[in-house]
Amino acid sequence: MRLLFFGPPGAGKGTQAKIVAKEFNVEHISTGDILREAVNKGTDLGEKVKSIMERGELVPDEIMNELVKQKLEEVNSFILDGYPRTLEQAKFLDAVLKQIKKEIDAAVLIDVPEDEIVKRISNRRVCPNCGKVYNLITLKPKNDEKCDNCGTKIVQRDDDKENVVRERYRIYRKNTEPVIEYYRKNNKIVTVNGVQDVEEVTKELFNMLRRFRNNDNN
Ligand code: AP5
Repeated sequence: MRLLFFGPPGAGKGTQAKIVAKEFNVEHISTGDILREAVNKGTDLGEKVKSIMERGELVPDEIMNELVKQKLEEVNSFILDGYPRTLEQAKFLDAVLKQIKKEIDAAVLIDVPEDEIVKRISNRRVCPNCGKVYNLITLKPKNDEKCDNCGTKIVQRDDDKENVVRERYRIYRKNTEPVIEYYRKNNKIVTVNGVQDVEEVTKELFNMLRRFRNNDNN
């Protein structure tokens, strides 16, 4: 199964992609997570993208394309979460998939309006050690503000301040909505209502995705 996950910042892409990847035994490739890890480790890539991400802007296409190409050469089934985000990236992805003779089964759009997004993101906290994602309203850690997995104090992401979130949303509308239209024209878009409990969104997704389960060995 090969899927793309779309949706505005904070729509729940990462939350749902992790659950779906585990259920259907596919690789979860989150470009945001890969970049944040590079920033945390202070690698060359991390140094290049740190300030771009803090401003909520997009990392240049050449960097993202190279990074994703390498990942796709290593796996068969996958969920791409956060890529492609520009038409350039979408066309590059088409070319890579053609080269490696693979196809996307579906592009999943998790639909959530702007006000809900700002509310969710302002309450998002993440574990800086293991990456687990929390929400101070809907998904609190069991013990104070400590990670359930490893006990590390959970923190707010640098790009989760309200002004940066609004900028990320503006960029999503300008650069990524045309990409969604691109996949809509190719009949690949399936939409789920993201304004429901996490479990309800998952249920809708599972029902929709079971038909692609058998494509894993293609
Ligand atoms: P990235 O990490 O991809 O950020 P994003 O797309 O803005 O998405 P988020 O991670 O903010 O949200 P999400 O939809 O995964 O929501 P989550 O599940 O966490 O990218 C970050 C940056 O990297 C970009 O700004 C850019 O600079 C760069 N970048 C990455 N890819 C790039 C590319 N291809 N090209 C160029 N630059 C790139 O959920 C959010 C919160 O809501 C959590 O607290 C969660 O617990 C809660 N929640 C989730 N679902 C629900 C629900 N159903 N009900 C209530 N609460 C919920």
